[in-house]
Order: sequence, then C-alpha cells, then structure tokens
Amino acid sequence: MTAAKPKVVVIGSVCVDMAIRCQEFPAGSEVVFGSGFSCTPAGSGLNQAIQAALCGCEVYLVAKVGKDHFGQMIKSNLADFGVNCDFVFEAEAKNTGAAVSFVNSTGANRTIVSEGANRALCPGDIKGAEFEKLISSANVCLINGQLPHDFVCSAIRAGKLSRTKVILDPALSGEQFQRQSGQLPMDYYTADILVPNFAEAAELSSSAQNHNIHNAKLIGSDLIARGVGCVVITLGRRGALVINKDDARHIPPFEVKFVDHTACGDAFDGALAASCAVGDEIKKAVKFASAAGALACSKFGSQESLPKKEEIIELLQTLP
Ligand SMILES: Nc1ncnc2c1ncn2[C@@H]1O[C@H](COP(=O)(O)OP(=O)(O)OP(=O)(O)O)[C@@H](O)[C@H]1O
Ligand SMILES: [Mg+2]
Repeated sequence: MTAAKPKVVVIGSVCVDMAIRCQEFPAGSEVVFGSGFSCTPAGSGLNQAIQAALCGCEVYLVAKVGKDHFGQMIKSNLADFGVNCDFVFEAEAKNTGAAVSFVNSTGANRTIVSEGANRALCPGDIKGAEFEKLISSANVCLINGQLPHDFVCSAIRAGKLSRTKVILDPALSGEQFQRQSGQLPMDYYTADILVPNFAEAAELSSSAQNHNIHNAKLIGSDLIARGVGCVVITLGRRGALVINKDDARHIPPFEVKFVDHTACGDAFDGALAASCAVGDEIKKAVKFASAAGALACSKFGSQESLPKKEEIIELLQTLP
C-alpha cells in the first residue's frame, strides 16, 4: 500500500503572460515591428500550485478563469503537473486574467494587466459541502492575497473553521498599499503563518521602517501581537526571518548565481506549503522554501524556473 500524499489547497490568481520583443518601445501612436511572441500560463496561484505538486503533494487549485481559450490552456497546463482543477471556476462574461508585456532590446519592459476573471472570485464560490469537504481534508491551505478581499477573508475563515493550517501571502499591490495603509481586514491576522515580504510586512503593521533585519524582527513581533500565529518575512537576497511568540530566527539565503527574480516568491510559498503539509516544523520548512526560492532565481522564466523536490534536497545538502 502506498502512503497518501500530503494534501495542499492553493487559492490564488491565474493569468496568461503574453510578451513580445521589440527594438524600441513605440512612441505615441506609432506602430513598431517586434519578434518572438510568447504566451504562457502564469499567476501566483498557478505557480504556487505547480511548485507544491513538484514537491510531491496532492494539489487542488481554487481560481477563476474566463470561458475562453486561455482558460482551457491554463487548466491543461495545471493538469500536466497533476494539479486538480475541479475548483478552477469559469466566470460568465469575463476574460481569463492576462498580462501583456513589451520587452525592448535593453531588457526593460512595459506591462499591462487585465485581472479579468480573478476579480470575479466571490465568497459564494467556496460555500457548500464540496469545498468544505476539500478544505477539511487538506493539510495546508495556501492563500494569495492578490484576490478580492472579501473572497480572501472567506477563504481564511473556511480554513480556520476546518482546522486546516492557513498560510497567507498578503501579496499587496501598490494600489492597495495606498488605499488601505495598515487597515487590512482582521481575518488576515488570524492566519497560522503569514508570509509577507519586507514592504508588505511594514504595511500590515502600519510602521514604515528602513529595510533591515532588526526592523523586520520588530514588525514581525508586532504582527504576532496582533494575532498571527507565526510570521515569515522574506527578504529577497538577504534570506528570510521566522518570528513567533518565543523567538525570531534569521534563515540565511542560499548562494546561487542570480539570473532572474520572476516566480521566486511563488517557489518559496509553494515549497513552504509542501513542507508544512508533511508536518515539518517551521524553521525546517523555511529552509526548504528558501532553497526553492534561490533555485527559482538561478533560472530564467516563470514556471520553467520552479525547481523539483530533488533539486531542492540537493541544495539543502550543501548546508554545513
Ligand atoms: N538573490 C537571491 N538569492 C538567494 N535566494 C533568494 C534570492 N532572492 C530571493 N531568494 C529567496 O526567495 C525568498 C523569496 O524572495 P523575495 O523576498 O524576493 O519574495 P517576494 O518579494 O515575495 O517576491 P515576489 O515579487 O516574487 O512575490 C527569499 O526569502 C529568499 O529565501
Ligand atoms: Mg511575494
């Protein structure tokens, strides 16, 4: 008999990423000719679900696409990695989320995002016996805050009610930063593990501070005092911090040859969820996640840069 795989429910955004290369960006209403068009499935929810699947988990993604070709493309991509799409809903009269970028000869880019169906996720989507059955049978529920706030709050509540470990990446956008400044819904502070980067952590604790490890520890302690179970603050190439009631520990970054930052936060989150789902204690899980984040930085691209479990283990073995 084979042992059951750890089960992870990822709740997050999906989109298609379209990019076209050009020599120079068009000026005004000018038309320029480009080359190398690409169109690939992306989005934090998609990347995180794939990362958790690459780490050996049974993964369900909760997301929303449009009733269009791109929605099918996203589902088929997820299925290739064994991610279950039963809860990838289809929105009426909304396009699948899309990001359209122009990349010039210096590598600079200009991007426009249409969130489309992602904005149509609503609390009603996760009401009902089927979703309750799913979430209560999962070891971990990983939620990405880039979705409508009322939906994110319902998802957190559903996880808490079913006693499933809730990991929340607040993933605040610049617009939310200004609009909500330190006033996010109370549900955010009930997460078992909150995983902001430094800027998001500062925003959630409403204390804008200089970006250094000492201040990150203070912000983490403030978030713990507000009710969060454990705070993991990611610090990019400076590693990560784990803060709980009793202590704060810096987890140094893994040394890798840096190529591209795309998807490294998603690799970190997906691997963190996978490690927590097998019952690893938090510092061990953050080391595993840090190795995944570092490996994603060492390769170009989005989902192509997400590492396999064996690669993560190999990098972990370089630790003294
Ligand atoms: N240059 C790097 N070298 C090694 N490890 C890195 C590097 N950049 C990131 N990491 C690892 O990945 C983790 C997540 O990175 P980061 O803090 O940049 O996330 P983020 O800001 O949420 O990213 P994103 O914009 O993708 O959401 C870090 O805590 C670290 O462990
Ligand atoms: Mg992030």
